[in-house]
Amino acid sequence: MQNRRDFIKQSCTLCVGLVGLGALATQLSSCAPLPVLKGESKDGIITVPIISFTEKSNVMIVRNAQLDFDIALVKNSDSDYTALLMKCTHQDNPLSLTKNGLYCASHGSAFDLKGNVTQEPALTPLKKFTTEITNSSILINTKS
Ligand code: FES
Repeated sequence: MQNRRDFIKQSCTLCVGLVGLGALATQLSSCAPLPVLKGESKDGIITVPIISFTEKSNVMIVRNAQLDFDIALVKNSDSDYTALLMKCTHQDNPLSLTKNGLYCASHGSAFDLKGNVTQEPALTPLKKFTTEITNSSILINTKS
């Protein structure tokens, strides 16, 4: 009887361990670094080559020396992109970008990839820039 009990106990421990490893692997893959592109700007327009997007990710960080905060560029479809200023609307701190949304480590606000608030204390959506598509580029208008 004791052997059977030990066997069940060891099996359950092994199962919990395997489930834990699976969850960890999933979390690590979602924490993979996102591409960061240094976008050149002219007259407030940042140009991002469309080929910068890979099959692996529909989001990237666009960095520009003229801006105090990075831009999260989201590919919604081949003809639809969203450009969000990565500045928390609660108290103006920088945001972190994941494949699923943006997060503020200061007080826990979160935003979806459309810029809508999903977790307070922030109450206002993120600043969104207009985008335009050319043959080979996405143009982000930082004056919009
Ligand atoms: S500054 Fe982002 S949640 Fe407060």
